Amino acid sequence: MLPRTTTERTCSGLRKCTLTAGLCGLLLITTMSTSDANPSADPETIEQRVTALLSQMTLAEKIGQMNQVNASDDDLSDHLREAIEAGRVGSVLNQVDFDTVNELQRIAVQESRLGIPLLVGRDVIHGFKTVMPIPLGQAASWNPDIVREGARVAAREAATSGINWTFAPMIDISRDARWGRIAESLGEDPYLASELAVAMVEGFQGEDLAEIGTIAATAKHFAGYGAAESGRDYATTNIPENELRNVYLPPFKAAVDAGVLTLMASFSDLNGVPATGNEFLMRQVLRDEWDFDGFVVSDWDSVRQLAVHGLTENDRESVYEAVTAGVDMEMAGESYLYNLEDLVAKGRIDVAIIDVMVANILRAKFRLGLFENPFTDPTDLPAIAHDHALQTARKAATQSAVLLKNDANVLPLSMDKLRSIAIIGPLADAPYEQLGTWIFDGDRDLSVTPLSAIRALVGDRIDIRYLPAMENSRSKATKAFDEASVIAQDADVVLLFLGEESILSGEAHSRADINLPGDQAELVRVVRETGKPVVAVIQAGRPLTLTNIVDKVDAILFAWHPGTMGGPAIADLLFGVESPSGKLPVTFPRMVGQIPIYYSQKNTGKPPSPETIVHIDDIDAHAPQLSLGMTAFHLDAGYTPLYAFGHGLSYTEFDYRDVAVNANEIRMGETVTISARLKNAGDVGAAEVVQLYVRDLVGNVTRPVRELKGFRRVHLEPGESVTVDFELHTDDLAFYGRDMQLMTEPGQFHAWIGGSSETQLRTEFRVVEND
Ligand code: NOJ
Repeated sequence: MLPRTTTERTCSGLRKCTLTAGLCGLLLITTMSTSDANPSADPETIEQRVTALLSQMTLAEKIGQMNQVNASDDDLSDHLREAIEAGRVGSVLNQVDFDTVNELQRIAVQESRLGIPLLVGRDVIHGFKTVMPIPLGQAASWNPDIVREGARVAAREAATSGINWTFAPMIDISRDARWGRIAESLGEDPYLASELAVAMVEGFQGEDLAEIGTIAATAKHFAGYGAAESGRDYATTNIPENELRNVYLPPFKAAVDAGVLTLMASFSDLNGVPATGNEFLMRQVLRDEWDFDGFVVSDWDSVRQLAVHGLTENDRESVYEAVTAGVDMEMAGESYLYNLEDLVAKGRIDVAIIDVMVANILRAKFRLGLFENPFTDPTDLPAIAHDHALQTARKAATQSAVLLKNDANVLPLSMDKLRSIAIIGPLADAPYEQLGTWIFDGDRDLSVTPLSAIRALVGDRIDIRYLPAMENSRSKATKAFDEASVIAQDADVVLLFLGEESILSGEAHSRADINLPGDQAELVRVVRETGKPVVAVIQAGRPLTLTNIVDKVDAILFAWHPGTMGGPAIADLLFGVESPSGKLPVTFPRMVGQIPIYYSQKNTGKPPSPETIVHIDDIDAHAPQLSLGMTAFHLDAGYTPLYAFGHGLSYTEFDYRDVAVNANEIRMGETVTISARLKNAGDVGAAEVVQLYVRDLVGNVTRPVRELKGFRRVHLEPGESVTVDFELHTDDLAFYGRDMQLMTEPGQFHAWIGGSSETQLRTEFRVVEND
């Protein structure tokens, strides 16, 4: 079935050899290397193979390796076949038919002069056919294990199509819920995003990249993309270097340290130099400081867009800037293909620079084992959407959902006490919408919706009446609201399925107003008037400003876009089969004007407090004051969020106490242990995410009022207690100071442990210099 043919051809500069397709490069090295059974695992052997192969390549073939082309057409064009055969293509993207991919690989390894296999890229962002919750949802699980497993499932499914490279994880720190791509991010916090970025990279890439079912990961978008002005996608970003190093770069550093094979340059302008032409980012930070030896791919056509930004005059100058800055491979655009040779001929780009870039690409191909095994046989891999994949998706969705409020313990619902439930809203039975953004290959037919899962769970024990009430989440037609009211009136409890359709978040899908779209707030009002208990289940791709509905519902379960198995996860949570355990990876503002709002803000010289703030409605009209509050707050929004980073309720009570340190003073290079006692003081078993925050009271640059420094998921049965310890080395307290050097300063630190960033349980310790 597969083209594992034996073919006779000449490896350039070598003796004529008979070899299995694609083994030319391997053969070159088997003469140099000894008995290593898996040459793609040995770095030294790989370097030898890279050097040997590079020495065989013409400049045109080198530039071909730097060229990634779109191969999404169903039929392979003659143009693409010829380009691959001529060695003008190093990678393709967006082809997912495994027979077609195998044919592309066959042309590359059997018909091109050097037989170099192709990298086959695809956006496998949160699942392939089986879809996990959106990455922001996965981040709400605060569970690296489930995040890693979700990526592993995605990698194996994607590999059945011949994909060997995904453009994920997206690890842009995002503190702006208007930005549509916040859905793809791991939230606002550098520490949480770093931990989860590493888990995703490990999941995609596995322990051995050459193993069947592992694929190369991409840490994107390097860097600063999430800081787009006003959350408008692709907009300018201005991030001072100190902020860049302390907030935006750490997840990329963590991914590089975890061995991520590739990075993608961002579309956006960073401090006046678009990232795709940004030498500081890609040469100084990535190569010189971090020793990255994988390769950097541009974003889609972002090389040619350097001219649109106004950095260059034309494609040729754009290529010059991108290559000089360190973009090893161009995604789409083909401007390297048509300009680079000439730039070399004119002496503007040294071929030695190109050699290093091509070596970076070839190294990745060797590491992936593509020279040994370029072809795909789907039967080598688990079936799509097999039980483990679905169970992983279900677990991820369960752990991602965040219980934002639960007045009078309206949740969990009682199977025994309820007679009837009204299920109302546009997202109760929307198999496609629950998958969220970036699901090119997601299979909506696999989706289990909340409506069907609830029906399956309750059987005929509870009467269920269902009304979508709105055609979609954006609808402004209220004609079905009367009927919604009648159905609600007849029920014991109303489950309102609200939120955003998937199209409202993701790339280029930013919003300036992040209230529930359409007339959903009116639907809430109408249902509320019935006086029945109302539970809002919200599926969305971003934090929403819920201020206008929060007092009109008794409970809010925020499920993000939960993916294929969102329905069963939500049903289990609503009925208490599982207790909610998700925690917010991003702050929920009260109103959009508070953005950017995040927990790790600076103190300012005038920190607000409940005593200093004044609300606009409380300004005395008859005795106007010249000054109000004189601290850092908004007259109409105060200074606190609607829901804080780390917040998330449970069906049990977690009792934190005895927050303590094992030493009041430690020396530089030592470790302090910070601990707390945690008890499940309620009557159901549940998981809690215990969080550690630290404040460095004085720094040579000002430090955030709190920074997450550790977290742990623990499951406790009713009455059970545990002591949770966090060890902090003084290196864990390091930050970039005024001179942009990473360092820990001596001084006093506060530390808090609790169930959200608002915990007040504090201890402290001092770091002193060594004598
Ligand atoms: C543009 C997006 O910014 C990037 O994240 C994605 O990987 C590429 N397109 C390829 O689809």
